[in-house]
Amino acid sequence: MQKLRHVLSTKQFGDTRLLEQLCASAAQMELDDVARTLPQPLRGRILATLFYEPSTRTRFSFEAAMQKLGGSVITAENAKDSSSATKGETIADTIRVVSGYADAIVMRHYEEGAAKKAADASPVPVINAGDGVGEHPTQALADVFTINKELGKVDGAKVALIGDLLNGRTIHSLLPLLALYRDVSIILVSPKQLRLPVKYVSFLESKGVRFVETDKLAGAVRSADVVYVTRVQRERFLSAEEYEAVKDAYIIDAKIADNLKSTAIIMHALPRVNEISPDVDANYRAAYFRQAKNAMYIRMALLNYLLA
Ligand code: NCD
Repeated sequence: MQKLRHVLSTKQFGDTRLLEQLCASAAQMELDDVARTLPQPLRGRILATLFYEPSTRTRFSFEAAMQKLGGSVITAENAKDSSSATKGETIADTIRVVSGYADAIVMRHYEEGAAKKAADASPVPVINAGDGVGEHPTQALADVFTINKELGKVDGAKVALIGDLLNGRTIHSLLPLLALYRDVSIILVSPKQLRLPVKYVSFLESKGVRFVETDKLAGAVRSADVVYVTRVQRERFLSAEEYEAVKDAYIIDAKIADNLKSTAIIMHALPRVNEISPDVDANYRAAYFRQAKNAMYIRMALLNYLLA
């Protein structure tokens, strides 16, 4: 596979090789970080983080990742209101300018396809940190790294994806990566209104991935190795009533968590609202805070791959 220039979609990963390479590199980054012996390959390099939508984890973990490897960061955390976008500047123009100051750009935007537009205008690598209801490829890298670490492998995993599969961009990015592994089976659990969009269903079919769709939680999670819960994406709903009708469709509580397979893990890209109750946090299967930390290490590996 040709070296990636921009990271816009997980469909750019044609096989597991680069994924495995990034996971191995992230694991080494973690060891070096704990030992305080991290190399500084990105010294003198600048990362721009350009966020048109809210974020805590993604922006901070990219910025921490860049700085841990010796680089530095320039940032617009509220670019929708604070950047020249308010004056009517196009994404292409903004990117042309920012790419003159930075060696790579991490962008989150509210429009699906915005990252591609940015990449088309950019002489430096653009990393999609979420484009509306489109994709969030680096979250999916963190998810695969987490499954690898927690279960020892991704091959053979039975993965239940739960909640807002319609709007959840982390799911849209995770599916193509799971499809690269052997014998993965997927259970898509959502209310009817929030089913996975047809284009992703067709993708799974075209890759011959085993999957089922259901709106019932109990049976779906009983035999799952990975219970991946998503937030119902309130900001994508047209009315408060439609959101209210589905917002608490599935809630993982301590009782459900206790009855999962003993080796199962519970994942969530965070932030959570009600879909995982806080009493699950003490369960050893709760992997979501570890997942959030893993995201920084995989982003270190990715920045190093793109820039070093
Ligand atoms: C996710 C996102 O922004 O899509 N958050 C994240 O990056 N960890 C998930 C979400 O907001 O529900």
